[in-house]
Amino acid sequence: TGRGAVATAHSNIALIKYWGKRDARLAIPSTSSLSLTLDVFPTTTRVAFDDALETDTVQLDGAPMPPRAAARVSDFLDLVRERAGITTAARVVTENAVPTGAGLASSASGFAALAGAASTAAGLDLDTRELSRLARRGSGSASRSVFGGLVQWNAGTGDADSYAEPVPSGDLSLAMIVVVVNAAEKAVSSRDGMRRTVETSPFYEPWVSRSADDLAQMRRAIADADLASVCEIAESNAMGMHGTMLGARPPFSYWEPASLAVMGVVRALRDRGVVCGFTMDAGPNVKIICSPSDVATVTAALDDAVPGAERIVAGPGPGLLIRE
Ligand code: DP6
Repeated sequence: TGRGAVATAHSNIALIKYWGKRDARLAIPSTSSLSLTLDVFPTTTRVAFDDALETDTVQLDGAPMPPRAAARVSDFLDLVRERAGITTAARVVTENAVPTGAGLASSASGFAALAGAASTAAGLDLDTRELSRLARRGSGSASRSVFGGLVQWNAGTGDADSYAEPVPSGDLSLAMIVVVVNAAEKAVSSRDGMRRTVETSPFYEPWVSRSADDLAQMRRAIADADLASVCEIAESNAMGMHGTMLGARPPFSYWEPASLAVMGVVRALRDRGVVCGFTMDAGPNVKIICSPSDVATVTAALDDAVPGAERIVAGPGPGLLIRE
């Protein structure tokens, strides 16, 4: 009994990073960010509000979700219930194709899908901007997975103007090769890592003040379909973000030896004239950016330098899909 809805969202990888909040409760970021929604790693979530339930039940990939993660889902459902004026508990069943916690942004697809399914099941009829604002409250990067392809999340100043929007990709075509260096759960979550960075790293403020320039240059490079510049700007912005973590107290880093090996492959390919770059998130996996026509060249180079590392080749993927 009760109304239900299903939604599917895909993961996204930022080319200009979100790292740090100005307002943790409302999830207002310090910087605007820009990402590519991928055509791999979807999360599909069904939500049904049911009067027969005493409390929310949350299932992930066929098993009960661990308590801390389930509590975060319930907190998010509270936002939806409050908005819809209901108090009913929900049954949430989610299937995740993303290796959870490996820096592959499972929270982005997860909370985007949850925002779509829960709001629809609760009878709210939100437009994509409202869905982006809602998803943001679950996980900042989820605000971007509401849209497909290239997406910009405008930092804004408060709840009303902090949302993502699609960015026209024009003639730019790009591929992303996710090199899975280690699929294990990360030691420092992005949420904790960014908080520590904001609170303690003297390198944080300089990175924030350069970010607006990085974004403006990235927008120009996209409009010009200038892949070399897209790669260069994305790489610098990501390296700067990882630099802020080394300045934190205590310092931390997501890099592993194999991450450095993959960065070396990218630099060697560039020396050979292949247009490519890389970005990294809150985990050791490296995401290589290149032209779709160079994917075979890049993967051949990876075979030699980091044999055995799993690779996932992705392209631009779709935005949030909701079904009743
Ligand atoms: C490194 O969106 O996972 O992937 O808002 O605390 O849930 P919360 O953080 P989250 O952070 C993502 C950080 C990043 C960079 C990015 O995706 O822009």
